[in-house]
Amino acid sequence: MNVEQLLNDLRTSALERIAAAETAEQLEEMRVDVLGRNGAIAGVSKDFKKLTPEDRARIGKLLNGVKQEVEASFETKNSVFVKAALDAKLEAEWIDPTLPAPGPRPGALHPVTRIQREIEDLFISLGFTVLDGPEVETEYFNFDALNIPATHPARDMQDTFWLEGGNLLLRTHTSPVQVRGMQKLGPPLRMIAPGRVFRNEEVDASHEHTFYQLEGMMIDRDVSVTNLIYFMKTLLSSIFKREVTVRLRPGYFPFVEPGFELDIQCLICGGSGCPVCKQSGWVELLPCGLVHPNVLRLSGIDPAEWNGFAFGLGLTRLAMMRYQIDDIRQLQGGDLRFLTQFTS
Ligand code: FA5
Repeated sequence: MNVEQLLNDLRTSALERIAAAETAEQLEEMRVDVLGRNGAIAGVSKDFKKLTPEDRARIGKLLNGVKQEVEASFETKNSVFVKAALDAKLEAEWIDPTLPAPGPRPGALHPVTRIQREIEDLFISLGFTVLDGPEVETEYFNFDALNIPATHPARDMQDTFWLEGGNLLLRTHTSPVQVRGMQKLGPPLRMIAPGRVFRNEEVDASHEHTFYQLEGMMIDRDVSVTNLIYFMKTLLSSIFKREVTVRLRPGYFPFVEPGFELDIQCLICGGSGCPVCKQSGWVELLPCGLVHPNVLRLSGIDPAEWNGFAFGLGLTRLAMMRYQIDDIRQLQGGDLRFLTQFTS
């Protein structure tokens, strides 16, 4: 059989196979047999060099024509199978576009904000006012008016971020709001002041450079340590809603006399020792005391007539104890995997 005859037969049988193919697999078999790298057309091309130059031109043209015709017919039939496959896939993956969208995930209050609001509600019910103060403070309100003069070593108790070129600083505690409260409202006074404070501190499991405190102050006639302890107990039992073990020990703060440290038995380890309580079993939470007469005097209040108590709750630490958070850095890390645990 001559090559022309062979090519014409090849075309006829290929077109018949394409027409007869009932599945994509049968069509693909034809493609491999005829058009593939080792297929029939490639077989004919291999024998080209045996032809004379005139035959080569003529047969080459015919070969290309056969190849193009078979390819075109293959593509046409193949597109029918591809469409059918796509239709089947679409049918299987059918979605209802009229369903309502899932909508945004509801947000939630940060654990510290939550506790802050609970404490605000409690103290409001006890006749206290909630005050706010600036985070950028003057040296006067942060230190001087709290009986901590410039030369006093107690200034070193709180490593301070100073602002350049003046006497401004990032407040190291919420106690300056006591002073603002006394000066603005005068006695008798019942106030709390939650807020963010800043210290140039080495960060670890229980120390942040930026954290929250909640200041409290009561000025009246004949306020005693008994009143102070009553309010501290009420505060803790309202937050923990169960018995927690506390200890009261003497503590030095220039703005109170006597001064106390109220520590809570560590609720992360149950008192046996862990990185949060620095292996001591106790966490410093609620320093407090009776307001120093100098502090009253510096704010124009006569200590012969008035006295009071003040406390400076470590709000971030309280959140750690309440929710058993074993590293303070989690609270401001912004990691949603941590925060979404507190959505209910
Ligand atoms: C004070 O800041 C005083 N102004 C508190 C005070 C107010 C005493 C009124 C008496 C009367 P102190 O530096 O201990 O005190 O801090 C108070 C609480 O803040 C600590 O008990 C602790 O719970 C928390 N705290 C202190 N430093 C850090 C820190 N780096 N990270 C997280 N919490 C801290």
